[in-house]
Amino acid sequence: MNIDWEDLRRAAVEAAGRAYAPYSGYPVGVAALADDGRLLQGCNVENAAYGVTLCAECGLVSQLHITGGGRLTHAVCVNGNGEVIMPCGRCRQLLFEHGGPQMLLWTVSGVKPMSEVLPDAFGPDDLARVSPEVAS
Ligand code: THU
Repeated sequence: MNIDWEDLRRAAVEAAGRAYAPYSGYPVGVAALADDGRLLQGCNVENAAYGVTLCAECGLVSQLHITGGGRLTHAVCVNGNGEVIMPCGRCRQLLFEHGGPQMLLWTVSGVKPMSEVLPDAFGPDDLARVSPEVAS
């Protein structure tokens, strides 16, 4: 599938503009496509109890499921300057869960599959191997 990465980045910048980041002063926006072409967005939402902060990717995967589910196919995260950033470790795991190893991420070193962004990832297949009734 040929997609317009600049359009996707613009959607991430728009999402960053809605961030609630009064404590860090570091807005983050993420935009992604689902396998049916749906555009999804998320922004970080901080909390006075700092550890409760929700990364932008949390809102994104919630929106994926609220709007009908499916799989993420392409994603990009940006900061408040519109620069592409890497998702934190936890959020790489979130993206892997909902996009799998083939999902393409625009990273700080170009577009890469999640299999390179989170190598040898733990995922649903690991659970399915031991408890087939639990996952997949
Ligand atoms: N942040 C995200 O939203 N996603 C990431 O992948 C990296 C970090 C947010 C969390 C916090 O609100 C701010 O960036 C500074 O860490």
